[in-house]
This record gives sequence, structure tokens and C-alpha cells, in this order.
Amino acid sequence: MDDSSLIWDDGALLTIDQRGLPGRVRELRLSTVEQIIDAISTLAIRGAPAIGIAGAFGVVIATAAHTVDGVVDLDRVRAEADRIARARPTAVNLAWAVRRATAAVPRGADAVLATALDMLAEDGRVNRAAATNTADLVRELLGDRPLRVLTHCNTGRLATSAFGTAIGAIRVLFERDAIEEVLVDETRPLLQGARLTAWELAEAGIPHRLTIDSAAAWAMATGQVDCVLVGADRITANGDVANKIGTYMLALAARHHGIPFIVVAPESTRDPNMATGAEIVVEQRAAAEVTGFGGVVTAPEGAEVFNPAFDVTPAALVSAVVTEAGVVYRDGVADGYGADATTTATAVADLARGLYLRGWMPGTAGNISVRQGDSAVVTGSGLSKGELTADDMVTVGVADSVPEPGQRRRPSAETTIHTAVYRSTDAAAVVHIHPPHATTLSTRTGAREEITVLRITDYELIKGLGGADPGVIEIPIFPNWRDVERIGADVERYLTESPGAPPIFGIAGHGITAWGDTLAQARDRAECLEALCELVTRSGRRHAFAADTDTDLMEIGPR
Ligand code: MRU
Repeated sequence: MDDSSLIWDDGALLTIDQRGLPGRVRELRLSTVEQIIDAISTLAIRGAPAIGIAGAFGVVIATAAHTVDGVVDLDRVRAEADRIARARPTAVNLAWAVRRATAAVPRGADAVLATALDMLAEDGRVNRAAATNTADLVRELLGDRPLRVLTHCNTGRLATSAFGTAIGAIRVLFERDAIEEVLVDETRPLLQGARLTAWELAEAGIPHRLTIDSAAAWAMATGQVDCVLVGADRITANGDVANKIGTYMLALAARHHGIPFIVVAPESTRDPNMATGAEIVVEQRAAAEVTGFGGVVTAPEGAEVFNPAFDVTPAALVSAVVTEAGVVYRDGVADGYGADATTTATAVADLARGLYLRGWMPGTAGNISVRQGDSAVVTGSGLSKGELTADDMVTVGVADSVPEPGQRRRPSAETTIHTAVYRSTDAAAVVHIHPPHATTLSTRTGAREEITVLRITDYELIKGLGGADPGVIEIPIFPNWRDVERIGADVERYLTESPGAPPIFGIAGHGITAWGDTLAQARDRAECLEALCELVTRSGRRHAFAADTDTDLMEIGPR
């Protein structure tokens, strides 16, 4: 077989039987629905994208089998499709692909085949794009240096149709000379890591060492891991990730050691219709997989067994989820721009509750928004941020701040400030909060009727604020007009006239506002400003007024 692990050949699906690897490279030729279901459920074909494509070809086979004189027996094909989709429950790709192929059934067997072939061709392209996006993110997070990557299970060309997802990212990093070594978890109980990943990495000439799953945390503790790259079987709307059993404990260990934990998957692994990981059906597999291996019994006869094939890692432990569309979640927060409305609303509500718990959105204070084309989704007015849900969001026009028809709530009273930012910058998300130190400084340095500038120098944290100069930040502080529209007008005028302005400002006696390309970036910047202001207020260094020397830590003065 060539580089593709799935090939359509004259009415049959050709693949390598993954059960025999690495010892036995055997080709399988699947030409009945029964054979497809058996291959998926016994893991001859495995990996979320691969079982999806195999399922789609299962529908092709079912359609051909139930077409007489050009007429398709829709009911029978749909019943077969249903059986295929249920062969394994956890990976959403299977149900998704079967649904997509089944949608073409009324148009006939050729249309179903064309759909499945499209999906096969798409898969390699999509994987390479997700892998490249991940390699770019890894470079952004860890710099351009040879890395030690830990991976789990098998996410390579065998688990997809070609190239792979997390292993795809490792391939791209290797092409860029950025891999020192891959640490491969053996992945109990079926050893997808030992049997398949080690085989694929050897085939590609990528340096690696195999290890037992239980050594992963220790490898991190002893400084042998720079980042963790894994795949996924289902990513729910809130960013929770189902993947091979053992992934969750890797995420916990990575968080403890401050190591980026990155999930690489195609968009088809995202399930926006499932709110959280609590709803995911985790496949339980046979006891024999745990009580023995390769025909050798390793446990007392009759031992009770717990054998979940997957676990669910909470979004908060995931540094990033990367797909062909880019980084879609960062630190558990959805990149709302481009995401569907439900995902966006959920992400905004999650973030609001988190900031409330930190005391930065006390009571009903503060507001958050995400831009979606000509609209923005903004938190509702007068609601406690501690109990905010996705239903509490309001969609308004960016041009006029007017709610779209049919909204259940009134938008935040400060919506005009958000829309002013969207109209005058490239922002995709805006976070307005009241953290104590930044609010104190905005209050001390702000003025009643004019825009002032809070200038902070000499702290490394300035880099995190996204300004043009990493050594100094000049933060505009706007007067806190009673008429909020007037604040929005000041903000819009200032940002339009000051193209180099940092993505952050204060309002005297009020709070701070930050924005960015994603919700996570806007939040990071607000967080960073608060940390910086805390350093300033705790350092005890005096506040100087504009005319003072360059070495002063902070100055204010007329613009
Ligand atoms: O039981 P498996 O081997 O099908 O489990 C596979 C995984 O968990 C993979 O990590 C996931 O499907 C991603 S494959 C690109």
C-alpha cells in the first residue's frame, strides 16, 4: 500500500489490519457491511478519522447492495448506516461521516461513493493543515528549538487516512528540525503506542523512545518533556476532550509541571451539539483486553475488570485544541471568532464565571463580548457573572450596538464601548473587568474630563500586553462619563487616531478593557495588566506626573 492507509478499490475498502502490527503486515479487503463493522469494532481499523472514513465506505457498500435497477432501498440503507454508526460510540467522526454519506443516499450509489471519496481526499489535506497549525503554535509557545514531545496512543497515518494529527504535527516539526525526541506511551491495554506509533515513527526516521504509560509523569518531573501532543475522539462545545484512556492523567501531570498539553484533531472531531464531556458515552471494552495479552493470561481467572477505552479531559486542563481552522480553544476557552453561536455563548459564560470567582467581575460588574462578523455576542445587562449561562448572551450589531431581533435579554449597559473597539481595531473579543490593582491605578491616574496616559516601564510583564514596545506601555485612561455612549465615542476616536495604541485601556474610577484575536488572548492581556499593576502598587515606587524622568516607573499626564 502507498502512504494512504485506506484505499477504495473496485467495490472494496483496502487497509492494513492494525491488529497484526508491527509483527504482521496484512492487507484487509472489506467488501460487506458486516466486514466493515467487524473491522471497526475489533480495531483492525481504528483511530477517530479512520473509522469515520471506513464508516462512510460502509454506507457506499450498503447502498450498492440495496440498489436494484437503479432504485435505492432507502430504509434498508439507513438501517445499515445506523448499525455502522453504532460500531463504536465515543469517536464522533464515525457518526458524523456515516451521516454525511447517508445524506447522499437519495441521490444514488454514485453520489454516495463520490461523497466518501471526497472525505478520503479531504482527510489528508485537513490533517496536514491541523498539523501545520499545531507546529506553528508549538513554535510560538516554546520557540524554535529541538523539542522532546510526549505522545499517547496512535494518531498517525494508520489512525487517519494519511499523515496523522498529533503525529502529523510531529512530522511537521521534524521537517523543521524541531524534534529532539518523541517519548511514546505504550498505551495499555492494546498498545497502540508500542505497536503502531513506534512503527510509524521508525518508518519516518523520527527519533523516539518507548515508555510505559505510568512513566509519563516521572518523565515530566525529570525534565524530559517539553510538550504533550495527543489526538481526540470527541471535543464537546465547552472544549472537553475525549481521547484514549490515559490522556486525562497526562493532562493533569502536564498542568502540574507547567508543560503545554495540546490536542490536534480535524474539525470533524468537534461536537458542537454536545455541551460538555459529561454527556460523552465512553466505550467499555472486553475484560480479556486487561486480563491478558497476545493469548497469555496475566490475571487470575475471573478477575473483575474496569476497561474504559477512553477518558475525558476537562477543557481547563487543555492548553490548546488545534484543528485545520487554527487554534480553536486556548486554555479551555473557545476562540469565539468563527465558532458557532452556541459555542461562543458558552465560552463567554464560562469565562465570566471564572473571572467572577477571581473577584474580577464582582456582582453584576464587568462584561465580555466576541465579534461574529457584523455582530457581537455580549453578556446581558444586570446579571450576576457568577451564574451566567450561554442563554444570558445578547447579539448586537457592531455598527449600531442595537440588539438583533428576538433577544431574550438587554445587552450590557457598556455595549457601546465594545462595539467602539470592534469598529476601530481588528479585535475579535473584548473583556472588560474590575480587578483591584488595575482598577486602583486607573482611578489614581485618570482624570474627570480628559484622557490621561498611564505609562509603565521596566517590567518584563509589559511584553504580555501586546504593545509595540516591549519595554514600555502607555495605557490610555478615559474619563468615566455618566453617558456611556460618550465613553464609547472617546474610545473610538482615540483608537482610530492612535494606530499604535496597545490593546488595552482603563476608565477612571471604573476598570480595564482588553481585546485580542481570541477570547483567551483578550483575557490573557487583562490578566497581564492586573499582574503588572499589582507589581507597581506593591513596589511602593511613587507615581510621577508627566514631566518626570524616564526612569520613573509610572507617569500620567495629558495626552
Ligand atoms: O481505540 P482507538 O485506538 O481507536 O483510540 C484512538 C485514539 O484515542 C486516538 O488518539 C484518536 O482516535 C485520535 S486518532 C487521530
